[in-house]
Amino acid sequence: MKSIVVVGAQWGDEGKGKVVDYLAASFDYIARCAGGHNAGHTVIFNGDRFVLQLIPCGILRSGKHAVIGSGVVVDPVALVAELDTLEKGGIDVIGRLHLSNRAHLIFPYHRQMEKAAEAARGAGKIGTTSRGIGPAYEDKMARHGIRVGDLMNPPRFREKLERVISEKDAVCRATYGVPLDTAGMAEQYLALGERIRPLVGDASVLINGALDAGRSVLFEGAQGTMLDIDFGTYPYVTSSNAIAGGACTGLGVGPTRINGVVGVTKAYTTRVGSGPFPTEMPDLEATEVRDRGKEYGAVTGRPRRCGWLDLAVLQYAVRINGISSLVVTKLDVFDTQKEIQVCTGYRYKGTLLKQMPASAEDLAEVTPEYRALPGWQSDTYGVKESGKLPRAAVDYMKFISDFLGVEVGMISTGPERDATIVCAGTKLAAWI
Ligand code: GDP
Ligand code: IMO
Ligand code: MG
Repeated sequence: MKSIVVVGAQWGDEGKGKVVDYLAASFDYIARCAGGHNAGHTVIFNGDRFVLQLIPCGILRSGKHAVIGSGVVVDPVALVAELDTLEKGGIDVIGRLHLSNRAHLIFPYHRQMEKAAEAARGAGKIGTTSRGIGPAYEDKMARHGIRVGDLMNPPRFREKLERVISEKDAVCRATYGVPLDTAGMAEQYLALGERIRPLVGDASVLINGALDAGRSVLFEGAQGTMLDIDFGTYPYVTSSNAIAGGACTGLGVGPTRINGVVGVTKAYTTRVGSGPFPTEMPDLEATEVRDRGKEYGAVTGRPRRCGWLDLAVLQYAVRINGISSLVVTKLDVFDTQKEIQVCTGYRYKGTLLKQMPASAEDLAEVTPEYRALPGWQSDTYGVKESGKLPRAAVDYMKFISDFLGVEVGMISTGPERDATIVCAGTKLAAWI
């Protein structure tokens, strides 16, 4: 039995798509457990670029199974659009893609209510992806969500939808002064339901059965630790459990069945949307990193905020997720840096903090402590062997690993599949 979770160790966009695509060659099932089409996971191979939002990256590897678990919120319009794109790209998904009947559905009114809520927050807005993710999870927790399984039973679906619409319409009028826009929605969803019917089943039965049969499972995390609803920089977070534990709750797999956790981090840090970001760079430096790293949102196209590597964040991520191996991506983006700053801790009102502050307001007031390391100022783009990395780059990896007490199992030196170094003798190397 081999079952490994891949989790974002920062604020998302760490390169999970590239890493999952690489690892997927060694796994039978690749499963998403949280989030929705707010995720954007980029995979590049043979000159083709795919940005997967809902469908696990494993779908790009022939013969592999891709599973969307119960913890994911699914917009059927987005799902079918993604299916069409894959099929147009020559990827055969029939019989390989599976969707949980317990996953909750996103409706257009979720987007409408999110837009109104963000506008009402004014300067305090979260800067969401506007995909209706938060309101869909709100309905799930409030116990009036509608699930994929309901859509498979048209009379039941209509009945539930009618009830929810009348409740929501009243809330929308009272709170935001606008009626709910639901014209043609039921028919549209029922038609999409027929299209996805062949994918629908019990994802927990599927995954546990696969593990019983000795198959291997890779859990593809979405978002990142600092965007987690419980452990992230609340309220500037997403609305689901993006941490490794989300694999259990979002797929119906017990913790005893998971063998390891791979944490993905960039060689620096980025964040999209609002919220505290202690190591954020000044404009000029951020622009260089943004340009070299092409740091623009894969989903929304928004420029990503850029900053130095924050080991306080990674130390926290190691603890919250139980990370057993780290993957450092985008090393090549630092090829031109003369000197690299690394945050080794925070001061708050003059005192060195031992733990990550729980409040976003406090985190916004910390002063990072930096350690300066020499840059390598040479080309690492596309390097495939650690022996070919410049000394200062090896030292940077060692500094991270020693500080955190966790191995660096893999280093990524470019967006393409083969621009990857697997570090010999590591746990990660043994899982491949
Ligand atoms: P994800 O959400 O964690 O899957 O990450 P995204 O796909 O949103 O963003 C990561 C971006 O970095 C994508 O454009 C990738 O193609 C790119 N990328 C991944 N690894 C590397 C790398 O090692 N070097 C460079 N230059 N780009 C990379
Ligand atoms: P991947 O899987 C980066 C951010 C949004 C916003 C906050 C809440 O590609 O790493 P939401 O629409 O989820 O309610 O927005 O979370 N966010 C992400 N940032 N990568 C992601 O996913 C993200 N998914 C959500 O920018 O700040
Ligand atoms: Mg992304």
